[in-house]
Amino acid sequence: MSVESVQDGVQDLKVNEENQDEQQEDIVDPWNVASSSTAGVNYEKLIIKFGSSKIDEELLTRMEKIIQQPVHYFLRRGIFFSHRDMHTILNLYESKKPFFLYTGRGPSSEAMHLGHLIPFMFTKWLQDVFHVPLVIQMTDDEKFLWKDLTLEEANRLAYENAKDIIACGFDPEKTFLFSNFDFMGQCSNFYKNICRIQKCVNVNQVKNIFGFSDADCIGKIGFPAIQAAPSFSSTFPFIFDNRKDIPCLIPCAIDQDPYFRLTRDVAPRLGLQKPALLHSIFFPALQGAKSKMSASDANSSIFLTDTPKQIKDKINKYAFSGGGQTVEEHRAKGGNCDIDVSFQYLKFFMDNDERLEEIRKTYSSGELLTGFLKKELIEVLQKLVADHQQRRSQVTEEVVRQFMQPRKLKFAFSS
Ligand code: TYM
Repeated sequence: MSVESVQDGVQDLKVNEENQDEQQEDIVDPWNVASSSTAGVNYEKLIIKFGSSKIDEELLTRMEKIIQQPVHYFLRRGIFFSHRDMHTILNLYESKKPFFLYTGRGPSSEAMHLGHLIPFMFTKWLQDVFHVPLVIQMTDDEKFLWKDLTLEEANRLAYENAKDIIACGFDPEKTFLFSNFDFMGQCSNFYKNICRIQKCVNVNQVKNIFGFSDADCIGKIGFPAIQAAPSFSSTFPFIFDNRKDIPCLIPCAIDQDPYFRLTRDVAPRLGLQKPALLHSIFFPALQGAKSKMSASDANSSIFLTDTPKQIKDKINKYAFSGGGQTVEEHRAKGGNCDIDVSFQYLKFFMDNDERLEEIRKTYSSGELLTGFLKKELIEVLQKLVADHQQRRSQVTEEVVRQFMQPRKLKFAFSS
């Protein structure tokens, strides 16, 4: 497959820009995503604000040449749209030098939602394509500090969510998954790196980046260093033979970028490599792209535990429609795919480019009605969630223990 359909994503970015000329500034941080535009966050502006780089056609063409296969449709469709230092990672891969992947999850709820699948599906693809080790951090400590959860409950949720993550299909020989509470007592390098990072950052800087106030508990002020530490290979001596120079690539939605701007800032001062990043846009709430799908708002979300009926009911009842108010109006004016949540969801989960394009054309022209679009989406999501539930049911406690055991991972060092 060629990279031309990345234009879809670029097109969307332009639409967003036009719609948002007069709107208030978007809010994007690890806790809030809010836009006043029905088309959602203006990602072009966000790239400029955060100082990252756009994933352009040149990068995608280079990537396809190096990996000798088409890039994931998340890249072609502009779902992963921004990066930091991805060319450096491709240079390493070309010269057969090692790197590793790092991503994570804050276990705040029993069930993960569809939006959480995005970084994990993409990380699995990266692991399969680049054959590299992966570390996955479960920030049960973060959720204990931020949410109304006991420590024991946050820790239990980490193990529940671990099953969902494992069900995404990661290679057990190349993946280490850890709970912060448990790993802290298993590996002194983790805590040593946290302290090294904490010594480089003052309270003022953390307040500026994360907006903490004097009323916040002191645990929050120290936490960013805990999310930063797994970016460095020396945090995992049992995986990387005590090497501290192996670079890291972090796939995540762009809400997590503030943590890694801080990490990239301190890395050179510690004589360590800055992590590279690949950022995704947000999977929207059912009510529309003004906010992201979020576990804290059950009506905004489709959960990986939902039944086929719940999925059907939620889509039919809540999924914001870009179609006409009446059939006549829809036939006359057509639907607006840029704000239609069902179409946006298909962009994330329908991998068949031809079918997606057909839906876009016929919905925009008014030929395809909202009810049929929703029906198609319901079928896609019911299958996706049922397949996930089937794979998750195979993940036993023993399998979880295997993934969470500090151990050597399959990893070919050439230099
Ligand atoms: P958390 O649990 O909020 O989210 C887990 C991952 O899912 C992404 N995400 C989304 N992506 C697309 N659409 C959405 N609606 C959506 N909601 C969440 C997040 O960006 C994240 O990649 N502090 C982190 C846990 C963490 C982490 C990391 C994440 C620790 N280390 C390294 C990424 C990389 C958190 O609470 O994520």
